[in-house]
Amino acid sequence: VNVIRRIEEMAEICSAHRAKGARIGLVPTMGALHEGHIALLRRCRQESTISVMSIFVNPTQFGPKEDLAKYPRPFKDDCEKANEAGCDIVFAPEAYEMYPPEYSTFITIERITEGLCGASRPGHFRGVATVVLKFFNIVSPHVAVFGQKDAQQVAVIKRMVHDLNCNVRIIVEPTVREQDGLAKSSRNKYLTDNERLQAGVLYKGLLEAERLYAAGQRSSEVLRETVAAIYQTAPLVAPEYIEIVHAATLTPLLALEGPALLAVAVRTKESLTRLIDNCILGGEL
Ligand code: PAF
Repeated sequence: VNVIRRIEEMAEICSAHRAKGARIGLVPTMGALHEGHIALLRRCRQESTISVMSIFVNPTQFGPKEDLAKYPRPFKDDCEKANEAGCDIVFAPEAYEMYPPEYSTFITIERITEGLCGASRPGHFRGVATVVLKFFNIVSPHVAVFGQKDAQQVAVIKRMVHDLNCNVRIIVEPTVREQDGLAKSSRNKYLTDNERLQAGVLYKGLLEAERLYAAGQRSSEVLRETVAAIYQTAPLVAPEYIEIVHAATLTPLLALEGPALLAVAVRTKESLTRLIDNCILGGEL
């Protein structure tokens, strides 16, 4: 795989491809690639002729007490995985080039960034939106692929693309899971053995809510309490939120009509790892 470090070089390569009529696809990642990322790349390759994967641990989306320093960075491994998966270009800029000392511009998306993960991670989506817009400007992709696991991130990016008239189509790929249902995540590595044994409960709760929804249950309160009761069976898992919101505006719903997002976040008690997951009741993202 062709690894590009410099922003200007990346922009030149992409505009040359565009001028020749290529369709450019982008998969933004922070590396530590797992099967979820590979699924995004596979979809990207179906939708484009040149696939670009960015690998950049974006400092502006981490809070001061978050895991920026310890976030895994297996760069050589990542390039091998990207190569095997048929990626054409890995774009891995340096933080000092993305954010030089005089850097001053940030994208703030209002309202939908306030609830769910935004409530406990102030500034997180400002950092995400800023870096994603920078990648859109550097790579000028026709399509960009994101995972449904980060459902609020998807809603935020879609809002930004619409509000700022970004010329890119956003594609959302389903969450890839471990055998016990745990959503694949680069942060799963932080889990202790005991936490890992209990972490399948996140998905178990979502499945039970889906089952009740299919049987006609439309009360948000009943569905959320069902999930909460299942999470109580796992002593190492402390829920941060279990919410049912409108899938696009992310406003809380009392009764379900139309597509609703059931989103959960927990913190584990030994390694203090934050895990998120979600499902859509009555539609898709
Ligand atoms: O989902 C992620 O890995 C990150 O939030 C993203 C989209 C690559 C921005 O840094």
